[in-house]
Amino acid sequence: MAVLVHYRPDRAARWVEALRTALPDEEIRTWPEAGEPVSVEAVVTMDPEPGVLDRFPNLRFIASTGAGVEKLLDPDAGPPPGVPICRLVDPELTRGMAEYVLTAVLRYHRQFEQYEAFSRERHWNPLPWPSPADRPVGFLGLGVLGTAAAALLVRHGFPVLGWSRSPKQVADIRCEHGADGLARLLREARILVCLLPLTPETRGIVNRDLLSRLPPGAHFVNAARGAHVVDADLLAALDSGQLAHATLDVFHDEPLPTDHPFWAHPRITVTPHIASLTVPESAARRIADNLRRARAGEPLLDLADRQRGY
Ligand code: NDP
Ligand code: OXD
Repeated sequence: MAVLVHYRPDRAARWVEALRTALPDEEIRTWPEAGEPVSVEAVVTMDPEPGVLDRFPNLRFIASTGAGVEKLLDPDAGPPPGVPICRLVDPELTRGMAEYVLTAVLRYHRQFEQYEAFSRERHWNPLPWPSPADRPVGFLGLGVLGTAAAALLVRHGFPVLGWSRSPKQVADIRCEHGADGLARLLREARILVCLLPLTPETRGIVNRDLLSRLPPGAHFVNAARGAHVVDADLLAALDSGQLAHATLDVFHDEPLPTDHPFWAHPRITVTPHIASLTVPESAARRIADNLRRARAGEPLLDLADRQRGY
């Protein structure tokens, strides 16, 4: 039996190596050399070509190489009905995301954008700065990544609010859900961080209406998906001063086209989808665990829910 890696050709080799280490007794194949379709038990992928996943009649599960599974859940990707899809939940990915959010928040909190501008003008200008206690941070999405990033900010003294689909209780975080919960969070969040999955409900959620409900001069961090944001509304909020700054890691089109207005905007920081990166060596151990579980008939870890869309 075999595990098939369907991944960018330039990066597949590292996955194959990592899976060989984690699953020394299994055959690890790389698309398009899939071999006998009946022998493929798991496909490791994030963005498969249409029709690929349908070819394997004995598929036990599809392992996503990323946390966001919107492309795998897209009917065009053809996930066969009934085959479980496992998201990537991995300590390295989680640590990287928490670090990115902390960096963006602290840069803003300690006014590094302003000091960079002053420094270009050789202008010595110490500014007062508020205590973290006076800068509530709101998270859209309080899942694996949102909760970890929120907990790190709590340790740095920021009051943290988080919004999720279902009600939650997380130590030291004010948890909100539903439309009223979102309204409360937006009223208070001086820094808003998006860590939602991309679903039909969350597409375009960061729009004019949502941005207008933040305190004037708020900062926005998007480390989730570009399609959560209505770009023109974000630009308008920055230009009117409603938003002071945006730190953006994800975009509708990636790489961000060179003529996109985000690049040149003085109050946008662009990073190239590096908020966190999958580390195949640690992710492969989770996939190995799921293969063992699937064969033993045990529940799989990190299942995506096709109904919810994440
Ligand atoms: P999870 O599935 O663990 O968490 C998702 C959170 O969003 C949950 O709290 C969920 O609520 C909430 N949510 C979903 N839909 C809604 C809704 N309609 N209204 C309110 N809340 C909602 O995901 P992860 O934390 O693992 O990942 C989040 C996203 O981060 C990924 O989907 C991916 O797009 C992005 N990502 C980006 C990376 C980067 O490098 N830029 C790297 C990795 C991930 P509930 O708790 O009730 O289910
Ligand atoms: C992910 C990503 O979803 O890297 O894991 O964007």
